[in-house]
Amino acid sequence: MSLHHLALGLIVGTAIFAKAQTANDSIEIFTYSTNDGTSGLKIATRKSSGEWRPINDLRLVGSDFGAWGSQKRMYKPHLRRGKESGLWHLTFDVLPDGSTAGYTSSPDLINWTVQEYRHANEIEKLIGEDTFDFDTLKDSIDGQAVEGTILNIEKAEIERLKAYNNYREGLAAKYNESCDADRWRFAGIDSIEMSLTLDPKAAKPISDRLFGIFFEDINYAADGGLYAELVRNRDFEFSSEDRHNWHALEAWALTDSTKGNVEISEVNPIHNNNRHYARLSVARKGLGLTNSGFDGISIKRGDRYNISAFVRAPQKGSYKVALISPDGEKIGECRLNLDVENEWVNLAGIIKAKADCANATLTITPEKTGVHDFDMISLMPEDTYNGRENGLRRDLALVLADLKPSFVRFPGGCVAHGDGVDNIYDWKGSIGPLESRTGKRNLWGYHQTRGLGFHEYFLMCEDFGASPLPVLAAGVPCQNSSRPSHHSIDGLSSHGQQCGIPMDEMPAYIQDILDLIEYANGYITTEWGAKRAAAGHPEPFGLKMIGIGNEDLITEAFKERFGMIFDAIKSAYPKIEVIGSVGPFYEGSDYTEGWEYARKNRIPVVDEHYYVSPGWLIHNGHFYDSYPRGEGETKVYLGEYASHRPDRQSDLEAALSDALYLTNVERNADVVAMTSYAPLLAKKNHTQWRPDLIYFDNESITLTPDYYVQKMYGNNAGDLYLPNERHLSTDNPDVACRLGQSIVVDSKSGDTIIKLVNLTPTTVSTTLPLTGPAEVTILSGKPSDEDVKESVINHDVTDGVYIQPPYSFSVLRFKSL
Ligand code: AHR
Repeated sequence: MSLHHLALGLIVGTAIFAKAQTANDSIEIFTYSTNDGTSGLKIATRKSSGEWRPINDLRLVGSDFGAWGSQKRMYKPHLRRGKESGLWHLTFDVLPDGSTAGYTSSPDLINWTVQEYRHANEIEKLIGEDTFDFDTLKDSIDGQAVEGTILNIEKAEIERLKAYNNYREGLAAKYNESCDADRWRFAGIDSIEMSLTLDPKAAKPISDRLFGIFFEDINYAADGGLYAELVRNRDFEFSSEDRHNWHALEAWALTDSTKGNVEISEVNPIHNNNRHYARLSVARKGLGLTNSGFDGISIKRGDRYNISAFVRAPQKGSYKVALISPDGEKIGECRLNLDVENEWVNLAGIIKAKADCANATLTITPEKTGVHDFDMISLMPEDTYNGRENGLRRDLALVLADLKPSFVRFPGGCVAHGDGVDNIYDWKGSIGPLESRTGKRNLWGYHQTRGLGFHEYFLMCEDFGASPLPVLAAGVPCQNSSRPSHHSIDGLSSHGQQCGIPMDEMPAYIQDILDLIEYANGYITTEWGAKRAAAGHPEPFGLKMIGIGNEDLITEAFKERFGMIFDAIKSAYPKIEVIGSVGPFYEGSDYTEGWEYARKNRIPVVDEHYYVSPGWLIHNGHFYDSYPRGEGETKVYLGEYASHRPDRQSDLEAALSDALYLTNVERNADVVAMTSYAPLLAKKNHTQWRPDLIYFDNESITLTPDYYVQKMYGNNAGDLYLPNERHLSTDNPDVACRLGQSIVVDSKSGDTIIKLVNLTPTTVSTTLPLTGPAEVTILSGKPSDEDVKESVINHDVTDGVYIQPPYSFSVLRFKSL
């Protein structure tokens, strides 16, 4: 465990002492919640006037129920202490209507068990046999009406809680440190000397798949992003389900509303999964449908674009498809001919662009009057990444490929486990002919066509030379779910949170997961192997690992369902490595419970997530040093992490703190098997989450400093770690924790790679354990820089000294001779 856990242990230890105090040392407290339940559990003591005075800043625990952040409410908390167990039991309402309640318990009012939720009149059953005395009270604090319980507690316990609170505040202050204070922090330190020595005998094998990428359809990363489709809402399946004011004609308009009309129909659709289509009634010639794309359609002069559309009409005829600039200029066009009546026909053509245009629209115009049905109107650049049909936007895919990821995780993130049971990502709905795929509401507030589906994800991995890592829900939806499900579980029908797939549907769900493995790896004679072959890929995709769950709360509903899935995979495909989940943070109930569960059940790898400040990364370099390692121990996949500055900017300070942390991860890469920065992609003006690794719009890409950090690690990974000793010319602890080094050997090339991070304003003259010519890649600048780029130089380190620039990340690659 980390130092942090040790400190926690000491504080908790005083609780045992505190319990031995006499009742004379006790005081009366009122525990309650305020601010419409967002405060979590608070404590107040009585003033001599009889009024309650809150112990400020003391928040014992909050509710985990409901959607993100302020949606998580704790109403009417009832805290009491079990006479038999000595445990603190806490029940609370999670909805204002009082229908649903939560329960958690704690030995010390600091560490709490994973919360469980039940119908309100079932909640007390979770407490079991314990007995207790308590009084409920309605009162007002700071002018707000509050409700909670009054109890007696030893004064020493209150002091211990205050001490713990101070300790947490101290940590928070440390973690909030930024380079802004470096002028004072490093005053008087003009230069630093560092020398590194090696003990080659102690070299240890490390993971050779340490640096991968995390792809999630967040921030318009897929439709409108990496997926090359240029028509928005091509299948007329957008609806108010996706966003309250959206509808099936979103992004579409008539070219001239005086000449006819358009309506949405569902009669005889092309496919039952794609029920809506546009019916255009042309009263006068010249009426067409126009699509505005994703913030316009970006067209490049000389490029060719594949147009296709399902069309049905009672008469044969032709259709003009054109790309039009904002000032009405025709940039390119083609004609599609329909020579069948009353049947859906998929028509295709090619448009060659005559000019550049950042903001074109696409129009499709029937030559004849009458009724015309349209669906799946698609415009794809011919020049996709690796020339794949239904492929990826080339420039974006290229910058991803440049990261040299050893694996690609998909389709999320929260998108994988969905907002409520009904929104769990069903991979089968994302494969096969495009018109048969099921579009889905994206919990990030938009629509997924899933034209970029599991088959395309596998192809992307193949093209990148990366291992596929599909992540599927562990039978439970996102811990921040807000949507109701089509069924209830544990008496909770009103909410998606903490539900699970009902037990009688689990066998089918588990079969879906096994079918995915078969789709990826099975012989073409198997049902799912044959589907892969029919999609154009008879060779297996070589799936070796699968993620089950995404930062779920480790509830009973989770454990039960995860266990069923894990056992089924182990028994049917013992060679597939299952990656489990240990909650959304680097500490707390789910982390603790998740690790306990993983070790007990010998889960090969678990997925840790943490989005933290640069200060956290600087001061937690030791985080993995004491994790158990060795044969049979559960390993770590650091599946989502990113340094978050308060302003959420992607600057060099954040990037260098990630680089620094990764030197520590590399040192521990016998226990940390894989890492992936998250999120990966974000479309400008459509960003739900910051920071991200790569920002883009339709025409350009902005690579962040963190992108270069990932690229420098991905291109310089090793499989053997060379333990080293470091001597610094100063014993200033602020210097020590801001310098990082890691030395690895890549046994394929035989190259030795030294990584050096300097998060101080001073040069660091570094005596290296190796000499000779090296290829050096450097990222450096001012901490607030957002547009720094790596530079590569050939450097002769014959004197064995390398000068690290201030605020820099350097990778020195010594080629094998
Ligand atoms: O990376 C963005 C989100 O962060 C992921 O979807 C989720 O897993 C995490 O909370």
